[in-house]
Amino acid sequence: MTKPVYLDYNATTPLDPEIIDVMKPFFEEHFGNPSSTHWYGIIPKKAVQNARNQVALLLNCKPEEIVFTSGGTESNNFAIKGVAQALRNKGKHIITSQIEHSAVLEVCGLLEKNGFETTYLPVDEYGLVNVLDVQKAIRPDTILISVMHANNEVGTIQPIEKIAELAREYGIVLHTDAAQSVGKIPAQVHELGVDLLSIAGHKMYAPKGIGALYIRKSAAIERFHHGAGQEMGLRAGTENVLGIVGLGQACKIAKNSLERNMKHMKKMRDMLHEGLKNRVENIKLNGHPEKRLPNTLNLSFQGLEANRILEEIGLEIAASPGAACHSDKIDISHVLKAMGVHLGWAKGTLRFSTGRMTTGEEIDKAVRVISEAANKLIKSGK
Ligand SMILES: Cc1ncc(COP(=O)(O)O)c(C=O)c1O
Repeated sequence: MTKPVYLDYNATTPLDPEIIDVMKPFFEEHFGNPSSTHWYGIIPKKAVQNARNQVALLLNCKPEEIVFTSGGTESNNFAIKGVAQALRNKGKHIITSQIEHSAVLEVCGLLEKNGFETTYLPVDEYGLVNVLDVQKAIRPDTILISVMHANNEVGTIQPIEKIAELAREYGIVLHTDAAQSVGKIPAQVHELGVDLLSIAGHKMYAPKGIGALYIRKSAAIERFHHGAGQEMGLRAGTENVLGIVGLGQACKIAKNSLERNMKHMKKMRDMLHEGLKNRVENIKLNGHPEKRLPNTLNLSFQGLEANRILEEIGLEIAASPGAACHSDKIDISHVLKAMGVHLGWAKGTLRFSTGRMTTGEEIDKAVRVISEAANKLIKSGK
């Protein structure tokens, strides 16, 4: 059986063979604990240091400002809970946006149960946060702003640099969830002006279960895991050496080939968009036309249901729904809701995301299969 064309790189990416190669010796040979002071600890310890340097080079920060975590979710938990805990005597107000990943929204919800207050910023029809809204939301007791760099569903890129200017002016810590942007667009911490930045390995061709949090040296943050003193005492636990080596290599590759990858992903994405626009009536792009990840194409098919389209194309194309229709109700994604996408459009929303490995032949096939399925469903009135 031929596998479906993979157009869901925002969900996760395949492992890059080059990354597998650098990880292999750590599966087979170098099993030592990086904390061991004997011979077996030497290579693993060096490998962790090397990976930390590679991540720091991509993000343009100091290696000691990188803490390895288990992924994007943990990095977001660490950042938000860690700042809230460290600054709880200064204030209990947090600002975030309505379109964050659940790994931010759920954490804010938990903190609210513990006496914190959150302002959830609205977004416009393109999914953009308005910097003036950020300014209006700032209170004397605001301790943290957490706004994602790029949205996972529609790809819209937020004006983090502008938000950072405000955060600096008011002395508020700024975190950004960059799980979707690192490796797809330039994402350097000093250029962005952030204090904390989350990354996830499995969105950039490294394994699942590894990520990192950039913590500016001066940022106030409470440690996350308690135990031994790994990760500068901030995140205890024997290091995931394999994953760390993989993430380091992923960052090295991302740094060296960012321009080329951006161009390729965008070319594939735009081919898909053009092809579908030419063959299917009444489709609409969600997300900003320009301020958007180069690989993300979130499309609404008017009057259709996302799950029905996926049923039709599922054997040949892998993509994600933006809504789920049940017998008694329709669940629209919180991102589309916040953007005010009308129900008649929103319920027929699919997210396609291209990647480094996407080929022109795959896109040709995707255009054919998706347009045939959509036109069939339109004809049959479903
Ligand atoms: C924007 C964003 N943040 C956080 C996460 C969670 O990352 P992880 O799967 O590594 O926990 C994801 C994953 O989908 C994401 O897209």
